[in-house]
Amino acid sequence: MQENIIPHDHAIKLEDRVRKNGYAPKLIWFTGLSGSGKSTLASAFEVYLFNQGYGTYILDGDNVRSGLNKDLDFSDSSRVENIRRIAEVSKLFVDAGVVVLTAFISPFRADRAQARDLVGGENFIEVFVDTPIEVCEQRDVKGLYAKARAGKIPNFTGIDSPFETPEHPDVHIRTAGQSVEESLKELIEQIVPKLK
Ligand code: PPS
Repeated sequence: MQENIIPHDHAIKLEDRVRKNGYAPKLIWFTGLSGSGKSTLASAFEVYLFNQGYGTYILDGDNVRSGLNKDLDFSDSSRVENIRRIAEVSKLFVDAGVVVLTAFISPFRADRAQARDLVGGENFIEVFVDTPIEVCEQRDVKGLYAKARAGKIPNFTGIDSPFETPEHPDVHIRTAGQSVEESLKELIEQIVPKLK
């Protein structure tokens, strides 16, 4: 199928966009359990970056699992495909010069590594939103842990579906006992210098 696909050499290159924008686009990849705080932190960080003049965009369940990936469930194979597509879409945004923030559980190390390889290691920042499952379960903002414990949601991450902890995340945020503002401060201090 791909043998007759011949890439077009676009006149505007990424370096042209970087020069014009004054910052380097990155893929900031938040990973963590359901209820760990990925979306909250990605959203707070996006607001900060946006207000500083960066072109930003968040990819999360709201705009991806309800559209592009609405054919996918929470089986292992669907999660792999979910992350593969998200990584490909993120690569397009990065090519367009945008700072992309993704907020998906992304439970498998191999898939996160594939996303890193796809956009290039120098463009990828893995943020581990490290919240113990007991804390996520206590928060249970969406009531999903209670349902999963009652056997009403099969393959729930951390209960009967695995989460492979990042071994060497670029940024490690431990949210338990920390306010959103404190976590945000860590994100700003550790990531903003990498956008220069
Ligand atoms: S994954 O593993 O990366 O493909 O998952 P993701 O696309 O991030 O979707 C996770 C959100 O879907 C809801 N949900 C579930 N999560 C985990 N396991 C199961 N079985 C499940 N079913 C539905 C849940 O609200 C997750 O949202 P977050 O924001 O992570 O809490």
